[in-house]
Amino acid sequence: MRIDLPKLPLLLKPFFFSLFLSLFVLAFLSLQTPRRSLNKTTTPEKEKDEKLPSDLKIRPGYSSYDAYLQRQLNKTLNPKLREIWTTRDWNRKVNVFSKFFENLKQREYLFNGSKSLSIGARVGQEVAALKRVGVNDSVGIDLVPYPPLVLKGDFHNQPFGDEIFDFEFSNVFDHALYPWKFVGEIERTLKDGGICVLHVLLSKRADKYSANDLYSVKALEKLFKKSELIEVRSIDGFGLDTEVVFRKKKR
Ligand SMILES: C[S@@+](CC[C@H](N)C(=O)[O-])C[C@H]1O[C@@H](n2cnc3c(N)ncnc32)[C@H](O)[C@@H]1O
Ligand SMILES: *[C@@H]1O[C@H](CO)[C@@H](O)[C@H](O)[C@H]1NC(C)=O
Ligand SMILES: *[C@@H]1O[C@H](CO)[C@@H](O)[C@H](O)[C@H]1NC(C)=O
Ligand SMILES: *[C@@H]1O[C@H](CO)[C@@H](O)[C@H](O)[C@H]1NC(C)=O
Repeated sequence: MRIDLPKLPLLLKPFFFSLFLSLFVLAFLSLQTPRRSLNKTTTPEKEKDEKLPSDLKIRPGYSSYDAYLQRQLNKTLNPKLREIWTTRDWNRKVNVFSKFFENLKQREYLFNGSKSLSIGARVGQEVAALKRVGVNDSVGIDLVPYPPLVLKGDFHNQPFGDEIFDFEFSNVFDHALYPWKFVGEIERTLKDGGICVLHVLLSKRADKYSANDLYSVKALEKLFKKSELIEVRSIDGFGLDTEVVFRKKKR
């Protein structure tokens, strides 16, 4: 003991130095990883299995994130369809969306003063409906913007800061390649106590542009880690059959 004591600090200095250095490098690496997996690569099988409830299936066949985006854009950018959506489709869809939002106002999930986001809003009929029922501070996001109603944004990586919105609506959950990121981003950008309303399809498989298939509300409940499920009801909403309401928990 006595003989070793003077040597100790000499040995410890390089030891602690390398310890701090490796901790710093590890912390740096762990901050880099999520971004890389979001933009460039498909998710490794292991990560998928850990994050996916058993009654939610990702469709195979997307070779890369870019292939997924190209498939989504193929329909959304179609000029003939965009013409139809913005003309003869417009009123019919705004009317139906307005009824859904009126109903949500009556149930006190939505108010004129709610700052609202519609996710995957395409040309923004649902945003127009929110404004029509008096929810003036409303905006949408989609891969393809349609100003001023719809901003450009990927729902896997919403272009907003944390805790911005009182209310978020989406009928495109089935288009999420990474459903846990779709939900994680909603929970990040909602204020505490904020409401998320999803229209989903449970009774059958969705269309060929879908990236996942959902078989139960339970699966959604598992993804919404910071929220509580407050209501489920049947609807008839453009081919979707179920309305699910979550409220982000207060800390
Ligand atoms: C079935 S359409 C629904 C459009 C609109 N909500 C409606 O009911 O009229 C799906 C929309 O989701 C958009 N979308 C798909 N993947 C997306 C992503 N990763 N981020 C944002 N929008 C996406 C598509 O561009 C498309 O406009
Ligand atoms: C996009 O759609 C067109 C017309 O339906 C089709 O011919 C083409 O192969 C599609 N491209 C991709 C990348 O899916
Ligand atoms: C909300 O806005 C609508 C439409 O502008 C209006 O008719 C209604 O009176 C407003 N409600 C409240 C509570 O202010
Ligand atoms: C919302 O917008 C409508 C139409 O522009 C307007 O009549 C109404 O007063 C606005 N409501 C609020 C609370 O600003």
